[in-house]
Amino acid sequence: MNQFSFPTTILHGQGALTELAKRIQEKNLMLVTDPGLVKAGVVEQALEMLSKSKSKFKVYDEVHPNPVEEDVEKGSEFYQNNTCDGILALGGGSAMDVAKAIRFFVNHPAPLAQYSVLKNGAAKITGTLPVMYAVPTTAGTGSEVGRGAVITLRDTGRKTLFVAPPLMPTIAVLEPSLTAKLPPHLTAATGIDAFTHCLESYFAPIYHPMADGVALEGIRLCLNHLNDAVNDGSNLEARAQMQMAASMGAVAFQKDLGMVHSLAHPLSARHDMHHGLANALMLPDSMAFLEAADLNEGQQHRIDTIRTLFREANRSGESLANETRIWFQELGIQFGLQHHNIPAEDLDNLAKDAFDDPCHATNLVALTRDDLAEVYQRAL
Ligand SMILES: [Fe+2]
Repeated sequence: MNQFSFPTTILHGQGALTELAKRIQEKNLMLVTDPGLVKAGVVEQALEMLSKSKSKFKVYDEVHPNPVEEDVEKGSEFYQNNTCDGILALGGGSAMDVAKAIRFFVNHPAPLAQYSVLKNGAAKITGTLPVMYAVPTTAGTGSEVGRGAVITLRDTGRKTLFVAPPLMPTIAVLEPSLTAKLPPHLTAATGIDAFTHCLESYFAPIYHPMADGVALEGIRLCLNHLNDAVNDGSNLEARAQMQMAASMGAVAFQKDLGMVHSLAHPLSARHDMHHGLANALMLPDSMAFLEAADLNEGQQHRIDTIRTLFREANRSGESLANETRIWFQELGIQFGLQHHNIPAEDLDNLAKDAFDDPCHATNLVALTRDDLAEVYQRAL
């Protein structure tokens, strides 16, 4: 017996946000975003597209790049003080995460910590939550179709996960022109994150052929469109395809992830490295590890299927380790952890944290802490 869910409504392509505006008449929405997007003019651009709506939008732009509990508390107050009746999240993963947390915190008692995964909090998130429209301005995390949020709590200082099915946004709006100003290095890093989600979910040894199909098509989209999006940010067709790939990655990774994410997480936690860049730096050496492993027929078939996709995209497809390295270099990634201020002395600590990270539990092959240390060493 298996259970599957693919429920989010998605509006995709140029004009998607204007279409949303038509659908949300006469509401008083809280627009959750971050100050960087206000400064970059993206909030203004979005409000212009929403101007045909009869709704009002109250801008709350106090979201930190790594969201903290206070963002959620202040946001909930803002929501109450402005008598809002719904939320529109505009931004990358941070704005989405804060919006999801505000969404339940406005009608659930404090403290926030009790709703976390650590406290089995999902069951406490009950009743009807306000509507939430998720409008991503990057193409990477896929948070717009996800049901999780990560917030750093005041008492522990730790990034804490909140996951509950009701947190899934009501509608995801993939409007490519909102990602057009994202600079090439962030387009590359976020796009590689989307690719990694698809790849690792496809490799995860869990029965989920629906997610596998989504993952394979997501990989194809990344192979065919990420270079164009990086090389010419105003290419809205490439931007739209990458937005779709990012959402598909997040739909697929409800199946789960693998060693690349386990290796990437400590680089961000300990050294504040961008999550997508961390995946990029760890992925080719992780592929080398997998390709050298003693694989059974089913595992080898998964590797071969991805190699075929690379060949179809006019790449050699002989070694995923080599092919991904060459591809990421084309996208502007500079390899070598040492070039990103990661000292060799820290590799032991990183390997310990990577082994404690839960993602590799669903890696294509089982891993030891020494295996993870060796991959860091190769990536140095
Ligand atoms: Fe990721």
